Amino acid sequence: MQTVTTLPELRQAVDELRDSGQIALVPTMGALHEGHLTLVRAAAQMASHVAASIFVNPRQFGPSEDLDAYPRQFAQDAAKLESEGVALLWAPGVEVMYPEGYATNISVGGVSDGLCGADRPGHFDGVATVVCKLFNQLRPDIAVFGEKDWQQLAVIRRMARDLDLTLPSADAIHGIPTVREADGLAMSSRNAYLSPQGRAFAARLPLAMRNATSDILEGKDVQPTLDLLVSQLLEAGFSSVDYAELRDADSIALLSSDNGNARLFVAARIGETRLIDNLPVKR
Ligand code: PAJ
Repeated sequence: MQTVTTLPELRQAVDELRDSGQIALVPTMGALHEGHLTLVRAAAQMASHVAASIFVNPRQFGPSEDLDAYPRQFAQDAAKLESEGVALLWAPGVEVMYPEGYATNISVGGVSDGLCGADRPGHFDGVATVVCKLFNQLRPDIAVFGEKDWQQLAVIRRMARDLDLTLPSADAIHGIPTVREADGLAMSSRNAYLSPQGRAFAARLPLAMRNATSDILEGKDVQPTLDLLVSQLLEAGFSSVDYAELRDADSIALLSSDNGNARLFVAARIGETRLIDNLPVKR
């Protein structure tokens, strides 16, 4: 695995790889777990070379969010990627990504409204901006993201279509199902912030969400089902629920009843730790 930190090195490495096959990109912020590595394995099935990036992107963190505390473990991450057969690791510093005078922002409308877009103003601008830069820097044939961050995936697909980003084209952006711990909790770098007690509470989130999606499938009214979900989480030890909403899986439009393409989205906090999850309303 070649690790590069400057744009000239990256260009050369990408040109060399491209001579011998397609490149699949897996963008990350590091603190890698099995969820990330599953994306890497899926990427390896889709292209001859996998390129991964590790960049804790300051533009997607709000002023009161966990940028400084975000777990950083570069050596461990690089070892994991190397053992998965990743060919190229792009690990730019902030000064390479956003040099002095940097002034451009990408803001995607519609799918960014609501859910995490409402709770975290500017978050998806930061994500869209950095992912657009990564696409331009590496010009991958394929890019792989997790469905754990469903709204993020919708934002990136919208951006790729709207800006005619030809590499990757919108259908070259692949979503991989959420990888979960044995008790159902979606894997996340932020799970490391949980105390043992908080970690035990956290497993109630996917459980309560599964119950809610089956109630909705059985025809129960959506709002009372969501209200019950929120009260179950608060009783289970969650400190607050940022949102619990039914939305269209593609447009992310709010739904008051199942339209056949519905997904349940929840963000809830245990102490300071914010957990998100989403599930399809399907059997
Ligand atoms: P990060 O949180 O490090 O996640 C990197 C990728 O791993 C994302 O596509 C995310 O959806 C996926 N992922 C995380 N947990 C997962 C799980 N349990 N199962 C499946 N996939 C999972 O998401 C970001 O970084 C950033 O916003 C980024 C896209 C890199 C832009 O900065």
